[in-house]
Amino acid sequence: MSSSRVVSVFENNQKLGEELAKNLSELANDVLNEGGNAVFKIGLSGGSTVTLLAECLPKIVTDWSKWRFFFCDERLVQFDDAESTYAQYRDKLIGRLPITKDQFIKINPQLSVNEAANDYIKKMSVYFAPYELPRFDALILGTGPDGHTCSLFPGHKLCEETSVWVAPISDSPKPPPNRITFTFPLLNNARYCAFVATGAAKADILKRILKDNEPLPANRVQPTNGSVQWLLDEPAAKLLQEETSL
Ligand code: 6PG
Repeated sequence: MSSSRVVSVFENNQKLGEELAKNLSELANDVLNEGGNAVFKIGLSGGSTVTLLAECLPKIVTDWSKWRFFFCDERLVQFDDAESTYAQYRDKLIGRLPITKDQFIKINPQLSVNEAANDYIKKMSVYFAPYELPRFDALILGTGPDGHTCSLFPGHKLCEETSVWVAPISDSPKPPPNRITFTFPLLNNARYCAFVATGAAKADILKRILKDNEPLPANRVQPTNGSVQWLLDEPAAKLLQEETSL
């Protein structure tokens, strides 16, 4: 059982996206080469990763019909709301990739936040062995300026949640307030976690996470039997590059 962390810095988003696409392609083809009913199970995050993935995923040569897209966290809003992470991926990926809406494992936004979390666990369990902690093939994560990831925020009680895979939150400091989120046991059971963080505004929090090793939520994603890669652009890595040789 081991965990490894790699920090990769790129001169621009295109080169960052090429690396992410290469890694996802290798993982997906490894999984899909198992044949049979194998599907590639990937968890997506909202925010800036949506655009980056929309630009880099089309570079991948794969059997897209075997991909299933889950959400590491999702806002509890209707699918016609601009804040819906699913809607953002739907609008940016369908048409650019030969995939359908049914390949997205979506929340039910008509439910309460508590019910939506339980409903999502049920939907997920169709794709994973029963009574076992699900192991995602890949999770694409972001981190906010406060060091949150998914909808796990610094100091929030959900950071200590270990009894459920997916939890509700109704007081998200990042709007909208009602969300569901993967919890750390699920995140840390993944095979590959890729954090994408770009732009000078992320430089300070990345220093706190990757150099100062503060126990912020994003720094607690350390898969027990998998790898985590931080994919940064040069402005985001500025405070790392000045003080450490990367
Ligand atoms: C969400 C995201 C969230 C995001 C971070 C970073 O739905 O809000 O899942 O966790 O990844 O807030 O967002 P940016 O990359 O846009 O800064």
